[in-house]
Amino acid sequence: MSAEREEDTVAVKVENQIAWVSFNRPEKRNCMSPKLNRQMMRVLDDLEFREDVSVLVLTGEGSAWSAGMDLKEYFRETEAQGLGGTRQAQRESYGWWRRLRWYQKATIAMVNGWCFGGGYGPLFACDLAFAAEEAQFGLSEINWGILPGGGAAKVVAELMPLRKAMYHAMMGENIDGKTAEEWGLVNEAVPAEQLRARVTDVANVLLQKNQVALKATKDAVRRVKEMTYDNAEDYLVRAQEAANSFDNHGRKEGIKQFIDDKTYKPGLGAYDKSKQKS
Ligand code: COA
Repeated sequence: MSAEREEDTVAVKVENQIAWVSFNRPEKRNCMSPKLNRQMMRVLDDLEFREDVSVLVLTGEGSAWSAGMDLKEYFRETEAQGLGGTRQAQRESYGWWRRLRWYQKATIAMVNGWCFGGGYGPLFACDLAFAAEEAQFGLSEINWGILPGGGAAKVVAELMPLRKAMYHAMMGENIDGKTAEEWGLVNEAVPAEQLRARVTDVANVLLQKNQVALKATKDAVRRVKEMTYDNAEDYLVRAQEAANSFDNHGRKEGIKQFIDDKTYKPGLGAYDKSKQKS
């Protein structure tokens, strides 16, 4: 095991309601070790219900977003501890990705560089993803003799057309940010020097939205994907009714500002939350 301190493996900066969370092992291309996985869970715990955080951005220090799982510390060293060691390491990594998939706040992956294998777990977990055109994405597992586990095969099957997913998984060739956009892995790719500004703009739009509605919306999109139309219709009725019990004023204020006050148009932007009763 390395002498690295667990708390140093993730960097966090909160600014203007945006939490910038970084994989922070740049000298190891931000590959995910058990220490990093444990620290990431702590960071997510800490930020999830903080009042000064509304959007979480996940990015990487240095030239990588994340070079996937740490082949030495995540695979070799935990395997040496037997099945218990392997299962624990899996629980720790899959645990924070699952947590991120259903996170209370809106989440954005800002892919600044290398993104490999296990990195597809947190990439998929984020609600939105923006990449540098120069970033490189790869399912490199086939190149070192395993299948794309840790959810990675599921991620490409979910996000890409089947032929693209097969090619990507079987060939072990990397694609750049633009191709990742075309194949559905990210929302958009922009030149590296514009990436942070674009992500900040997107985050600022999300900050203006009703936060109860935003959480209900992101969960709904993930949930209904696996439902029949009728089940989805029913789920959405129940989910909205549950959301109303957390925030009944916001929705009424949104209707009032449009219908009575005529101060905004929902088709063109969000209502003014500052006028809403809490
Ligand atoms: N696991 C363990 N160590 C890793 C790693 C990983 N996934 N990715 C990078 N590193 C380590 C390297 O071993 C090296 O360590 P060292 O300085 O102690 O020798 C250090 O990080 C820097 O990596 P290096 O390969 O020199 O950087 P590079 O910029 O030339 O290349 C990559 C970057 C990402 C192309 C290359 O590191 C790589 O192929 N990594 C493995 C990616 C992968 O297959 N991940 C899938 C895991 S599921």
